[in-house]
Parts: sequence; C-alpha cells; structure tokens
Amino acid sequence: MSIPTAAAAEPVIRVAGLHKAYGETRAVDGVSFEVQAGTIFGLLGPNGAGKTTTVEVLEGLREPDRGEVRVLGVDAVRDPDRLKPRIGVSLQTAALYPKLTVVEVLDLFRGFYHLGGRSTDELISLMDLGEKRTTRTQNLSGGQRQRLSVALALVNDPELVFLDEPTTGMDPAARRALWDVVLGLRSAGRTVLLTTHYLEEAEVLCDRVAIMDHGHILEEGTVEELVSRRFKERAVRFDTIDGLPEERLARMPGVASVKHEDGDTLLYTRDVAGTIGAVLDAAEGLGVEPANLGVRRATLEDVFLDLTGRALRD
Ligand SMILES: Nc1ncnc2c1ncn2[C@@H]1O[C@H](COP(=O)(O)OP(=O)(O)O)[C@@H](O)[C@H]1O
Ligand SMILES: [Mg+2]
Repeated sequence: MSIPTAAAAEPVIRVAGLHKAYGETRAVDGVSFEVQAGTIFGLLGPNGAGKTTTVEVLEGLREPDRGEVRVLGVDAVRDPDRLKPRIGVSLQTAALYPKLTVVEVLDLFRGFYHLGGRSTDELISLMDLGEKRTTRTQNLSGGQRQRLSVALALVNDPELVFLDEPTTGMDPAARRALWDVVLGLRSAGRTVLLTTHYLEEAEVLCDRVAIMDHGHILEEGTVEELVSRRFKERAVRFDTIDGLPEERLARMPGVASVKHEDGDTLLYTRDVAGTIGAVLDAAEGLGVEPANLGVRRATLEDVFLDLTGRALRD
C-alpha cells in the first residue's frame, strides 16, 4: 500500500513548452514549470523578461502560440471561463475605473461573483485602505492603487492568486504589510504566484522561484538550492584583527579563500562552525575579541549576477 504524498498530487499550475511571440519579439520562448498547492512561487526577472506574458497566459487572458497550460486542473487556453471564478488576479497595469471610489470599485467587483468571498470592509481593512474608502481611484497614489488592485484580486477568496509585481511603487511599510498578506494566504492554504524584480522579496516570501530572462527560465528551485548550486562557501566576516597573519587564516578549517576589504576580514569557508571556532581561538591567543563577527551567505542577487553577468536592477 502506498501513502499518497503532496508531490504526487496534481500541481496547481503546470506549464510545459510555452511560447508566445509578439511579431519578432519572442516574449516567452519555451517556458516550463510547476507550482504545488499551498505554496508561494516567484517568477523573477528584469523588465522585458516575459513574466507578465507568462502570467497572463496562465490567467486565461492571453492565448499562447503553443504550449500546455493547466491551472487548477483546467486547460487555461481552451477553458478560461471555467478558471476565472477560481483565481484572483492583480494586474500590473490595472484599469480601476478612475471615477469610482475605493468602496464602489470593491462593491462592483464583488458583484461579479455570486456568493461567498470577502466583504468590502474586510478587504479594506486587510489592505489598509480605511482612510481612502471614499477616494476616487484616479486620486490614489501608486502604492495605494497597488493595494486596491491586490484587494480586488482577493474579492472571490480565490484558491490561486496571481500578483504581478505587487509591491512596485509601494513604500517599505506597505511592502512589508503586503508580505504579511501573502504569507497569510499561504497559511490559509491558498497558492500564490507572484512576479517581482525585488530579489529580497522573493527570498522572504517564495517557497520556490524561477529566474527568467529573455523569455527563458534560467534556473528553478528553492532559494537555498539556487544559491548553494552556485556558491559552495559562506563568508565569515569580522573586523580585521592586527597580528593575525594571512597564512594562519588560510589554514583555518574549511577556508577556501581570504579577503581583506575596508577593515573587514572575509573568510570564504565550507565549514562555518569550524572557521568561527578557529577565529575565536586565534583571537583569544592574542587577548582580543573579534568585533562584528557574522556570517553572510550568497544571495539571490549574487545568483542573478552570476547567471546573467548583470545586476537585476540598475
Ligand atoms: N502587447 C504586446 N505587444 C508587443 N510586445 C509586447 C507586448 N507585451 C509585451 N511585449 C514585449 O514582450 C517582451 C516581454 O514582456 P513582458 O511579458 O511584459 O515582460 P516582463 O513582465 O517580464 O517585463 C518585452 O520585450 C515586451 O516589450
Ligand atoms: Mg511585467
């Protein structure tokens, strides 16, 4: 007898061999990935990578040239109307009925669905739009508009939520508040696909990420996998200690290389605990304590730089 596992369940999203060109531009050029239920998946990449085009095909809003697209068990290309009631969509460039107020737009969207879902007040409070209830959407700031757009995506309490660059234009406080909303969706068993060009956001939120550039997925996996695939070492850093020679540092357990910069010593090591132990011993021998001792691992930003030869944001 076999026990069914989560991995054996049909994924919430399955994309295989997706292609979409606009004239000569191959916006999406052979994209495949899967998203499991109850997870947050991040599609990362610079402007023009093909993220929005991919997401719009998954939402049933745009027809691909070819490729298989199954979302919640539905063929998103043939049956988009079966899909739409079950998903939530926060579009990157949402048309928000400029003359209507926040409450009116939410009520309007709630009217598109039959029963259930979330109340307008609940959504206003969730997205912290209380002070803007009676403001026309044309007078909202970029960040407020984004928050409203996310609120609209949640009107029908969807199983799967698509958020296309949800925090662009938000200040840090609003960004963090949105992160809590996204994590709350996962806690409630929902699935989230978000696109972003903020790698820190992906590190905080995403169970798995795909890095996209020029219509291709370059890497896919957990952040930890992506980082450790490329960077085997972590950096142990501390304020440079006088009288601790380079040769001694280089012989510490696991240390692959030593770097000094701006008064910092950086030891790139495969044995963080062993290296820290040796640093503490050496410092004690000199009668000092290492100052500002810390460990830094490579980040998604380092992965992106290594993959593409450029930073994600200029
Ligand atoms: N409606 C469209 N018509 C023509 N070209 C488009 C259209 N939408 C996107 N593109 C082009 O397709 C490529 C991918 O765009 P997009 O999917 O919006 O990427 P991203 O969301 O990652 O910025 C870009 O080169 C963009 O200029
Ligand atoms: Mg986009």
